[in-house]
Amino acid sequence: MKVLVSDPISDLGVMKLREKFQVDVKTDHTPEELKAAIVDYDGLIVRSQTQVTAEIINAGKNLKVIGRAGVGVDNIDVAAATQKGIMVVNAPEGNTIATAEHSVAMMLALARNVPKANISLKSNEWKKSQFVGVELFKKTLGIFGLGRIGSEVVKRAKSFEMEVLGYDPHISEERAKKIGVTLCEPDEIIKRADFLTLHTPKTSKTYHFIGERELSMMKEGARIINCARGGLIDEQALYEAVKSGKIAGAALDVFEEEPAVNNILLELDNVIVTPHLGASTKEAQIGVAVLVAEQMVNALLGQPVSTAVNVAIIPPETLHDVKPFIPLMEIMGSFYTQVYNGQIETIEVIYSGEIANYPVQPLTTSLLIGFLKVMLGDMNINYVNAAAIAEQRGMKVTEIISKTVDNFTNLITIRVKTKEETKTIAGTLFSKNDIRIVHIDRFNIEVVPSKYMMVITYVDKPGVIGRVGTTLGNNDVNIAGMQVGRASIGGEAVMVLQVDCPITDDVLSKISKLEAVLSTRFVQL
Ligand code: NAD
Ligand code: MLT
Repeated sequence: MKVLVSDPISDLGVMKLREKFQVDVKTDHTPEELKAAIVDYDGLIVRSQTQVTAEIINAGKNLKVIGRAGVGVDNIDVAAATQKGIMVVNAPEGNTIATAEHSVAMMLALARNVPKANISLKSNEWKKSQFVGVELFKKTLGIFGLGRIGSEVVKRAKSFEMEVLGYDPHISEERAKKIGVTLCEPDEIIKRADFLTLHTPKTSKTYHFIGERELSMMKEGARIINCARGGLIDEQALYEAVKSGKIAGAALDVFEEEPAVNNILLELDNVIVTPHLGASTKEAQIGVAVLVAEQMVNALLGQPVSTAVNVAIIPPETLHDVKPFIPLMEIMGSFYTQVYNGQIETIEVIYSGEIANYPVQPLTTSLLIGFLKVMLGDMNINYVNAAAIAEQRGMKVTEIISKTVDNFTNLITIRVKTKEETKTIAGTLFSKNDIRIVHIDRFNIEVVPSKYMMVITYVDKPGVIGRVGTTLGNNDVNIAGMQVGRASIGGEAVMVLQVDCPITDDVLSKISKLEAVLSTRFVQL
């Protein structure tokens, strides 16, 4: 397999890739050149310079994995990659400390006028009184985003004895308390902060979330630090606020457009800037390169990946318990689609018993893969694109978790609603990995899935099973196993036969004409 590294990364990462793949490092492609070159590669590794657009992704005929040596994937069209079943992996932990330290460095430099004083003295001036700063001690730090970097910034701010007010929609009171942050609503933070630091991703919700309104609400003389992403702050509004003196200063590592060489904020003495250096330490560059290389190797070799951004991952600590259910789910999806017709509107997946204690989303994805491979005849459906494709096709999927179940340790039930009907299939595992389908429509049964099967519904009368067996025998089809289930004596029943070869339409038609047979289906797994 071939991997292209299109932005500079540490040699240690490249060496790791070379242990397994042919690797080309070429960091000066134009977009057009990259579009032409990508055709040959199975993997692409970038930092932040290469823009991995939908056009490049679609040109990557063999492309399976895109790796980002860093955290932010905003230079990758993740939706386009997902649609094509291409996994996107990043290296989120490699540069956490580097960026947290840079944020604190920027805050201190801003508080003590370090850059201005440096320039002044190097111009042979000795102007002590011009550079009187402020202390961090006992000041209020407002922080947006309490993830990896935000939490490390908090630790360091605490060592300066700052009071920390934070906002993060995905963090619990308990976690905030543990790291020493008082959670507050955004406006309260903005009003009370002496220093405000941003550590959120750039999303439609966070774009320009510090704008004219927020800046006008801030304390006179407050200071702002952004080492997260350009675009979180409205740069024009910040320019006005610093120029007017309302905001005493800003320290920026990131900009809405990078390289930010002609940015208006560069005109202002009270704005200190670095050219996106948050992650630029020797340690972090090695960290992200090695981490993304490891993820690329695992992803291309089909090993577990821990940092995919567009795939539901089974956490390593639960892999042992959850993984055996994956084939059951894919089989149930495939089995359903081959037995029943109709445009699916909703799929309810009910996880009952012990399995309900684990993250089940990857299992639901396996189920969808089973459905979609049969429905679309497309073997390129995978963990990356299955959920997106199901959604596009209007299939609404819900998971229901129930810790209790009768008769089984675990039971997974799928209830599928089409315009015409609702059908149910349930499955379980016996002794850890023996797959059984234990419920088909309204019939309890115990089916061991096999490569070729027939599913027949019939009226429960003497002689039906014999006639089916004779017809199959007369047509050279060997029966390997059979299970039946019925709702009541003489009522409707289901028969599942494991056979040793595919069943032709002609044989299916003969069986469907037998007395008391209601429907016949051939299933191939
Ligand atoms: P993370 O995913 O660990 O943390 C981000 C946090 O932001 C999460 O806890 C999330 O819940 C929170 N969040 C999301 N929306 C929010 C909102 N509207 N308001 C408040 N909080 C919100 O990510 P991280 O590794 O800590 O990275 C944080 C940021 O730093 C990212 O934007 C990343 O791209 C950037 N980064 C920059 C550099 C650099 O060189 N300057 C280096 C690494 C990371
Ligand atoms: C990141 O998202 O990891 C940072 O922006 C650092 C970078 O890659 O330059």
